[in-house]
Amino acid sequence: MKVLVAGGAGYIGSHVVFELIRDGHEVVVYDNLSTGRRSAVPEGVRFIEGDIRDLDATTRALAQGTSSGSFDVALHFAAKLVVPESVSNPLAYYHNNVEGLRTMLEAMVKTNVRTIVFSSTAAVYGEPDKSHNGECLEGDLTVPINPYGETKLAAEKMIQWVAQAHDMNYCILRYFNVAGADASLRIGLDKDQLTHLIPLIMQTALGLREKLQIYGNDYDTIDGTCVRDYIHVSDLARAHILGAKYILDNDRSVLCNLGSGQGFSVKQVVDAALKMFEFAYEYAPRRDGDPAKLIANNQRAQELLGWQPQLSLEQMLSSDFAYRQKISTSSHGEPA
Ligand code: UFG
Repeated sequence: MKVLVAGGAGYIGSHVVFELIRDGHEVVVYDNLSTGRRSAVPEGVRFIEGDIRDLDATTRALAQGTSSGSFDVALHFAAKLVVPESVSNPLAYYHNNVEGLRTMLEAMVKTNVRTIVFSSTAAVYGEPDKSHNGECLEGDLTVPINPYGETKLAAEKMIQWVAQAHDMNYCILRYFNVAGADASLRIGLDKDQLTHLIPLIMQTALGLREKLQIYGNDYDTIDGTCVRDYIHVSDLARAHILGAKYILDNDRSVLCNLGSGQGFSVKQVVDAALKMFEFAYEYAPRRDGDPAKLIANNQRAQELLGWQPQLSLEQMLSSDFAYRQKISTSSHGEPA
């Protein structure tokens, strides 16, 4: 496949780029480097610095194609994704996640690139249907409880309407809690302001933070802490290739959850990490915008895409630790 990866220098985008290259595809990375790193783009992969909100630049990038022809598919990762930040700064989320996508779709229509793989999120579900005990199915009601989920839901709907009007196909992937790093440790989650649970545990284990705070222990869950479905970033990355092939081969669209199908409470993740590393933690008040429980039903991805998650929670913890250890001892963001 010939693939443009918008946001390909960021955490998930760069892992998808690595898997695409390993699988023999032709890749161009398009990224504004607002949170991504130039060093996350593998050598030999063409890199275009640009912003998806810039219609002319995005149209030019899409029109150029690869050295051997037009793009078959565009992958979209260029979004903001931190729940508490979206609560305090919703306008930035609408600008980036909704306006950015709108511009990119306009550029795709102009350049006749008719296939998109889009990163969505479990945050579109809000508080899952009580009768499913925290499990989310793709057909469930979508009632986001934070601006991040709201902007991603608006984006999903925009894609569906635009696809209908302009004869496009889409693969919308609703991610659950993504963690871990590529086995090569050349890439991982490398951001100045970390907010996600597993990287914060590892920073604490490395002595870069004094204590981990567990936000809330009065939720209606097994031990009072929030339950999430953690999925290894390399498993997630492989699903994008399967998703792109599926829509190209079948000339149809698809929307799937991407999660392991298994829930762990924050306390269970902390306990699993404590078996591997030493660190201190304490309970703190609830964080704004957190639903109690989110677990993927991943049957659709398994059946339609032939996708099967392979890597465990322990592999997410150990690879994130190893990556964080590496970047804390080498110069920032540079591959070793
Ligand atoms: N948490 C802590 N302490 C911390 C950090 C997080 O207790 O220092 C808790 C949170 O309160 C939450 C859980 O750990 O209960 C997971 O929080 P993360 O910040 O790691 O991830 P989120 O669940 O907020 O969000 C992530 C992605 C979203 C996605 C969501 C889907 O960022 O894009 O998973 O489940 F929508």
